[in-house]
Amino acid sequence: MATARSDAFTFFGATGDLAYKQVFPALQGLIRRGELDMPIIGVARAPYTLDQLLVRARDSLSHHGGVDEEAFAVLAARLRFVEGDYADPAVYDRLKQALDGASRPLHYLAIPPSMFATVVQGLGRSGCAKGARVVVEKPFGRDLASAMELNQTLHEVFPESSVFRIDHYLGKEAVRNLLYFRFANAFLEPIWSRDHVDSVQITMAESFGVQGRGAFYEEVGAIRDVVQNHLLQVMVLLAMDSPVGHDPVAMRSEKLRLLRAMRPLDSSAVVRGQFRGYRDEAGVKRDSRVETFAALGLHIDTWRWAGVPFYIRAGKCLPLTTTQVMVDLKRPPVAIFDEIQAAQSNYFRFRLSPEVVIAAGARVKRPGETMEGEAVELVARHTPDPVSSASPYERLLSDALRGDSSLFVSDESVEAAWRVVEPILADGSRPEEYEPGTWGPESARKVFVGEEGWHDPVAEGSAPC
Ligand code: BG6
Repeated sequence: MATARSDAFTFFGATGDLAYKQVFPALQGLIRRGELDMPIIGVARAPYTLDQLLVRARDSLSHHGGVDEEAFAVLAARLRFVEGDYADPAVYDRLKQALDGASRPLHYLAIPPSMFATVVQGLGRSGCAKGARVVVEKPFGRDLASAMELNQTLHEVFPESSVFRIDHYLGKEAVRNLLYFRFANAFLEPIWSRDHVDSVQITMAESFGVQGRGAFYEEVGAIRDVVQNHLLQVMVLLAMDSPVGHDPVAMRSEKLRLLRAMRPLDSSAVVRGQFRGYRDEAGVKRDSRVETFAALGLHIDTWRWAGVPFYIRAGKCLPLTTTQVMVDLKRPPVAIFDEIQAAQSNYFRFRLSPEVVIAAGARVKRPGETMEGEAVELVARHTPDPVSSASPYERLLSDALRGDSSLFVSDESVEAAWRVVEPILADGSRPEEYEPGTWGPESARKVFVGEEGWHDPVAEGSAPC
């Protein structure tokens, strides 16, 4: 069962925002690659007809990557639509009919988490879950207790081997490259530890605000929206040991080991911010205390990483949109040359979005008589081809259809990640206000244990930060 291909694709939330922005483009991509030769069934509460859904699908594609007429014709021929209230058993009867005897369907829940349990139970009761896989969107719960409850609900109907918790960051080319770069190069391993690494910083900056998602964002805030999932997963890939073997289970258990070694956050190492103007957004409370920015200091209690601070910073309305990792190496132990060296001149820089870049920072001698140097970067840069390269959603759905769970988050991992952020979730204090277009509140510096500060990413191709 674990490796048999799914033979039908169902997606709940077919008329929703996620389907519009991500799912239809991913379906077109999968069809183009010949990976979706099966019934495709959209399910939604909105009173659409199949024709209306197809109009929406075309509109979605024209705004997100373009319509491929050949692939669209295939989508139009395979797409079915089931409409109704998710709590109504009749919806699942109609879904069963539309599945037309498929014995290994994949059900993708592109719906708000508050609906997960209802749909999972509906699938279970109707028999639609038999032999099936289920793909679950983030956010997976809103704290440890709700995540555990959700896992229990899922497990009443689906075995863990059939549950695929999506974190689209794990499907990003640059994020997969992190893992590849670390374990395909032997030169890195000897220095990848407390002996040579001084500190690690991960910055996820977005120059835009909540983009009309105020009501959603009000329920989550930056820590639940991107830290508990995307950024802790990036930290795992940076810090985990190499998996023992190739199979998804080996990968998942190494990731879990690392997550379990992360120390639960201490509120003294957390700064929360809110951009000026957030409280005027539609769907946001006028006295909202939800953070749109967070800066955190973390620790991993293993022999490899003990004493090495990891910093995470994420925010909306920052100066630019990018996700970047800086791994700062320790300074040379003795100053041989008569010059003042920058605190961090040796480092690895991983640009995870929008570009895919890996760079190593070094010092070289400036031409001339004196032994003085300058900082340079050795850069490897890829420009993914938007046509031939799969989007994260396309890649992850393709894996789920094949039953490959390597890039998905296990029940234990999702709970371990909640355990890390749990102590700071109840913080009801007013976040510090910051001006849009700045790097967040001044006090974000407070999370540093040493004298170093944040490396603010710059536009790729400008001088290194
Ligand atoms: C989502 C968050 O999971 O990730 C958004 O809900 C965020 O708030 C987005 O903007 C960022 O993802 P990407 O792939 O656009 O960088």
